[in-house]
Amino acid sequence: MSADHSISSATSSKATALSGSCTVPGDKSISHRALILGGLASGETRISGLLEGEDVLNTLKAMQAAGARASQENGTWIVRGTGNGVLLEPENQLDFGNSGTGCRLCMGLFGAYDFPTTFVGDASLGSRPMGRVLDPLKLMGVQILDESEGGRLPVTLRGPWQTIPIEYAVPVPSAQVKSAVLLAGLNTPGITTVIEPHLTRDHTERMLLGFGAELEVEEGKDGSRRISVVGQGKLTGQEVTVPADPSSAAFPIVAALIVPDSRIKLPNVMLNPARVGLLDTLQEMGGKIEISNQRESGGEVIGDLTVQGSELRGITVPAERAASMIDEYPVLSVAAAFADGETFMTGLGELRVKESDRLAAVARGLEANSVDCEEGDDWLKVRGRPDGKGLGGGTVSTHLDHRIAMSFLVFGMASEKAVTVDDRSMINTSFPGFAELMNNLGGRIE
Ligand code: S3P
Repeated sequence: MSADHSISSATSSKATALSGSCTVPGDKSISHRALILGGLASGETRISGLLEGEDVLNTLKAMQAAGARASQENGTWIVRGTGNGVLLEPENQLDFGNSGTGCRLCMGLFGAYDFPTTFVGDASLGSRPMGRVLDPLKLMGVQILDESEGGRLPVTLRGPWQTIPIEYAVPVPSAQVKSAVLLAGLNTPGITTVIEPHLTRDHTERMLLGFGAELEVEEGKDGSRRISVVGQGKLTGQEVTVPADPSSAAFPIVAALIVPDSRIKLPNVMLNPARVGLLDTLQEMGGKIEISNQRESGGEVIGDLTVQGSELRGITVPAERAASMIDEYPVLSVAAAFADGETFMTGLGELRVKESDRLAAVARGLEANSVDCEEGDDWLKVRGRPDGKGLGGGTVSTHLDHRIAMSFLVFGMASEKAVTVDDRSMINTSFPGFAELMNNLGGRIE
């Protein structure tokens, strides 16, 4: 199992006018996928801007355990892949730490090979449901040699001599499940198809095309998507430039909106349509966010953002938007705590099975800091106090969840009283250097 992190708390105190420019680390979803496809493809993949967070480095170790080689040259990662269909059997269990993405994508990839692979992780990952990935893999002929109760880690998979191509309609909109099936399809004869009810982040599809996979996407009139990949083809190493992660950018963006008189810039932020739900929502709330210099880079749309302190107002966030901002609800709830009126967020069932039960963790954190909020099965109502008077002063339980820790450190930047989070160590899974970056803008996180 994963090594325990040494727990250390952090406190964030009220800041004045944030300013400056900040480059947040590379996108986590793209970083995982670049290492997985680079480690699988023939030849060399050069990755610049890779997120060197713990989650991503665990995926790198998994690919190395299967025969990929990796080195670094002036900040660029060079990965030499094994070639599609010829991964080696890892000698040891694969430890994905805190990362659902690394673990679930690799379950699809490794599960389609005729050797046993054991997947382990930390206490947070060990509590998350894996059945959603195991179900389609079983249909492909993958055996579950071992699993903990309710399809939890540790899990050991073994592919058959040859997996069976399937057509699979994902029951919950999940990019991780979609990607796991497509990756299993790469080592499967014939055509493997995934149907999703509506768009979830499509980095796997985009990157597979970039690496030379035969892949087709058909969009239905109802917004559904049918993605088919031809198995056992050749993948060829590519140059990948990882843009700044919009889910990490969310923290300085919300901080600048809620700290009066702030003005900050964030260059090169990825603006993939399946990831911009938070920007749309914050703009609807009255957030002054300007997007300039939109351009394409490596198959993704990117742009530069300028964000200013704003008078936010509460809104109803449509449930259909959830997939495009699923990781951003904790920090949106913080923005809502400083908005005028009520913000109603619905369609949040998936938040219960993230790195923590995020819906409960957010509600308890808001309550601990005197915010008026109400939690339902899959919804949250937050009634804000724009000047932050009387807010703060609490200690937040982070439950091994990086985004809960960062969200409440942002909260403390605008509340009257300081906010403490019980553990900052998990922030390194996705955003190394978070406190330094926020403090360079004018934050007071210690
Ligand atoms: C991710 C997909 C999302 C998201 C996670 C990253 C990915 O999870 O929450 O942080 O890179 O595919 P789901 O697919 O479970 O919604």
